[in-house]
Amino acid sequence: MNIVFTIFDKILFKNKTIVKKRILVTGGTGYIGSHTVVELQNSGFDVIIIDDLSNSKIEVLNGIEKITGIKPVFEQFDLTDIDKCKRFFNKYTDIEAIIHFAAYKAVGESVEKPLKYYRNNLLSLMSLLESMQTFSIRNLVFSSSCTIYGQPEKLPVTEDAPVQEAISPYGNTKQIAEEIIRDTIKTDKNLKTIALRYFNPIGAHPSAHIGELPIGIPNNLIPFVTQTAIGIREQLRVFGNDYNTPDGTAIRDYINVVDLAKAHVIAIERLLNNNNKKAFEYFNLGTGQGVSVLEIINSFEKVTGIKLNYKIVDRRAGDIEKVWADTSFANKELGWQAEKSLDETLLSAWKWEKRLSEE
Ligand code: WQD
Repeated sequence: MNIVFTIFDKILFKNKTIVKKRILVTGGTGYIGSHTVVELQNSGFDVIIIDDLSNSKIEVLNGIEKITGIKPVFEQFDLTDIDKCKRFFNKYTDIEAIIHFAAYKAVGESVEKPLKYYRNNLLSLMSLLESMQTFSIRNLVFSSSCTIYGQPEKLPVTEDAPVQEAISPYGNTKQIAEEIIRDTIKTDKNLKTIALRYFNPIGAHPSAHIGELPIGIPNNLIPFVTQTAIGIREQLRVFGNDYNTPDGTAIRDYINVVDLAKAHVIAIERLLNNNNKKAFEYFNLGTGQGVSVLEIINSFEKVTGIKLNYKIVDRRAGDIEKVWADTSFANKELGWQAEKSLDETLLSAWKWEKRLSEE
């Protein structure tokens, strides 16, 4: 019976016709955004995407359609333009909730170009919040990050761990964004927000119709691994093996992108059903397991049978030593937990890289 209820609570009945609840996904042609659009559509929501395509490709819409059979409504513009934002909300007046992914996210680039990151990531959020107030949209899921914890003193890291001084402007934009949302909620009793603090999202949809699309040389480990394995990159550099960890390489909490996407649907339903316990809630989304760079390499070689060409080099500036999530709060409050194994996730990343090489 509960399942039937869940299905119906996303479908509105107007004049005896079925109208699906409409969710706006900003940055919806991006990596985590596109996987979340698929899960929202699979759960019966109607999805509209805003993206400026500065870090993604419009062909992602075809990949989404191949998986769900539904091509999302798509509007291309820069969210920092408040006038365009307001024109959008004047046109689409039936949006029930927003998931805000749209932001620049390359840690290294943010160090070189801080103003680009502060302008884009913060102005786009403020345009959105102002528009939500103007058009009385109450529900927001915000894409946040474990980078706000810096190098935690205690592991696994819980939601009440102290937010440390950000190591990069990227991480600082996530910290400041959460503060902007908190302060807005203090004066706007209508606004409800859930911030999801991701650990390291990896992998691709099992269909290999969507996945991570790094433009240029990948900053992140997994796309660099798969591009090395397929021959696009000559050699993978392992940034340091002198950390205080079992094998000397840095440890992260790598979470499957589909598991992560499903958590967004749960967060949206929590807000729409008014099940949130506070106006501003935040959850750590990881697997709860720490995995080192060498363990990633070993797992990838095991599941693919490919020997990776890599070498140990110096540490990368700005990297922390080790971090992994305490997921008990998300497990308990959201009834969510990561399900896919590291092996299965790395295999999905490899299947996606092979699909890209066929294009
Ligand atoms: C992982 C590990 C590197 C590349 C990411 C995102 C950030 C945030 C948190 C969401 C590190 C090592 C990497 C390479 C390597 N996510 N590495 N060789 O730095 O943890 O941050 O997750 O907001 O946005 O960037 O991820 O994949 O860059 O690095 O040895 O070529 O792999 O040193 O230990 P990171 P990453």
